[in-house]
Amino acid sequence: MKTLVIKNLDQIRQTARQFIDLMGDYTVFAFHGEMGAGKTTFIKAVCEELGVEDPVNSPTFAIINEYRSATTGELIYHFDCYRLNKLQEAYDLGAEDYFASGALCFIEWPEKIEELLPDDCVNVEIAETEGGARTINIDL
Ligand SMILES: Nc1ncnc2c1ncn2[C@@H]1O[C@H](COP(=O)(O)OP(=O)(O)O)[C@@H](O)[C@H]1O
Ligand SMILES: [Mg+2]
Repeated sequence: MKTLVIKNLDQIRQTARQFIDLMGDYTVFAFHGEMGAGKTTFIKAVCEELGVEDPVNSPTFAIINEYRSATTGELIYHFDCYRLNKLQEAYDLGAEDYFASGALCFIEWPEKIEELLPDDCVNVEIAETEGGARTINIDL
């Protein structure tokens, strides 16, 4: 288990870089944490550090956002499964194909699609701690 701390929003890009250094060859990351914990905000910081210039926001309605890193040209997929009602909807979106594609996949509310996540999916837990800081536990 690796732990990172974001003391305040001014530090988030630095923490995002530390996270990227830990990612290794893993491509699928499941972000757990309650509503308001900071999942979308952290994924946005990670994507920006990876060179994404597209707007990064919660794909709550779209379920999947696709970004492209302007520095590497690589695609990144950002899932928000909160509004998925049935696992079948995730199958229909082709979620498994994205996860197997080798492209980076960052997933909010992965609990909704647990059965579809690949074995090598990395679990990440974000929680708010005292004073509004965020603790990020990465299951690596
Ligand atoms: N590291 C952080 N430090 C301080 N505030 C944060 C941090 N991360 C997120 N927030 C704030 O918390 C609120 C919810 O963040 P958000 O990323 O939308 O949460 P989630 O996606 O987990 O529901 C936003 O107002 C955001 O500005
Ligand atoms: Mg969110």
